Amino acid sequence: MVRVGLLGCGNVGGALVQLIADRGHEIEARTGVRLELAKVAVRSIARKRPVHIDEELLTHDAAEVVSDPGVDVVVEVIGGVEPARELILTALAAGKPVVTANKELLANHGAELFEAASAGGVDLLFEAAVAGGIPIVRPLRESLVGEEIRRVIGIVNGTTNFILTQMTEHGTSYAEALAEAQQLGYAERDPAADVEGFDAGAKAAILGSLAFGAKVVAGDVYHEGISNVSTTDIDFAKRLGYVIKLLAITELVEVPDGPAEVAVRVHPTMVPVSHPLAGVRDSFNAVFVEGAAVGDLMFYGRGAGGDPTGSAVLGDLIDAATNLRKGTHAEVISLVRRPIRPIDDLLTSYYVNLDVVDRPGVLRAIAEVFERHGVSIRSMEQEDTDDGARLILITHEAREASVQATLGDLRELDVILNITSVLRVVGSD
Ligand SMILES: NC(=O)c1ccc[n+]([C@@H]2O[C@H](COP(=O)([O-])OP(=O)(O)OC[C@H]3O[C@@H](n4cnc5c(N)ncnc54)[C@H](OP(=O)(O)O)[C@@H]3O)[C@@H](O)[C@H]2O)c1
Repeated sequence: MVRVGLLGCGNVGGALVQLIADRGHEIEARTGVRLELAKVAVRSIARKRPVHIDEELLTHDAAEVVSDPGVDVVVEVIGGVEPARELILTALAAGKPVVTANKELLANHGAELFEAASAGGVDLLFEAAVAGGIPIVRPLRESLVGEEIRRVIGIVNGTTNFILTQMTEHGTSYAEALAEAQQLGYAERDPAADVEGFDAGAKAAILGSLAFGAKVVAGDVYHEGISNVSTTDIDFAKRLGYVIKLLAITELVEVPDGPAEVAVRVHPTMVPVSHPLAGVRDSFNAVFVEGAAVGDLMFYGRGAGGDPTGSAVLGDLIDAATNLRKGTHAEVISLVRRPIRPIDDLLTSYYVNLDVVDRPGVLRAIAEVFERHGVSIRSMEQEDTDDGARLILITHEAREASVQATLGDLRELDVILNITSVLRVVGSD
């Protein structure tokens, strides 16, 4: 029997309690481990909960759960940095394995926690922290540990994927799609963490750490959200054979005469419709892994919600319990410092939408600006508008700094009426 101390019993904690109640016998039959809920810390004991919990198990005092000698394994599903960090460090120092779903904590203090787990010789498992119910942490940590991973691209925020899907498939405006996401409970009343890319940024940091064994924290991640994506952008993307997705991208970039750099970023991106990520709709998540030997892999499923996330926590809990019984633990994660690639050095293709005056010599003037900064144009379309013409350009791979310099000079040209939008493009060169 393994006695579980549960910190937090909200969406995820509640789903976990229900799953243990429903599947406990089957789990015991299959693994030989009987999971027993020993203590549950919550903020409000009086709150009505959708799951049944013996009142004697409930406490306000999370520290008491961690220090209780009757608790063998700690599950942290409170969220946020403190007191979660302190509680987890205390549990690990006491030799108790910890399972957590806390992306914010891992993306900011991962290295400290991994070191504490290593020092305590116990498990720190966190499958649910990235893409909820989708197994991606364990594949990166175990199955792909020998693989040379080149790039990981994720749709790791269900709220923004839902909004972009509504805009793409129903022509809904950003504001309407956001209101619908809020009505359905996909988006918070203050949606900034999702729509401005902070949540995806935290997950990108964890993915970068796991894929490249590097210390990557949330503050290293360049991020742009989707609040400026318009239905016009979506329509042009469609016409050109793309869909717009909010992608978390992390890759290892070789640098001549220097150590390889980790590039890690989140931004709205044009993805060719033929790419597997283009078909990931609604609130679903997916993580696409490009490996040197294994090739392309995609992991797809529910990135949030009590049950999917609870399922991922349960898998980790069984793993931790089984390891505890055997007196072992999972391979320790050790992270090295690697330089983070500045966003200015990003190499990618760009989509640029310009409103221009319609007169001879305009194209030449614009082409000269691109040429001056070494940005090569791969394709261009022109169409008439009421007050001039619209140019839609896709570049070959170019440096971010060169593209920004190009845009700066374009703004100075009197033939440019407006730079309507600029988006990065993946998988087209
Ligand atoms: N929800 C998802 O879909 C999802 C997906 C992936 C990862 N996660 C992660 O899972 C974690 C939990 O998320 P959630 O959605 O389950 O959150 P939640 O519904 O807000 O639940 C939080 C729980 O923690 C309890 N709590 C808060 N502060 C506490 C304290 N100081 N001491 C003791 N208990 C405390 C709350 O008690 P009361 O119930 O009394 O208020 C509540 O039971 C977060 O790290 C989140 O990022 C969630």
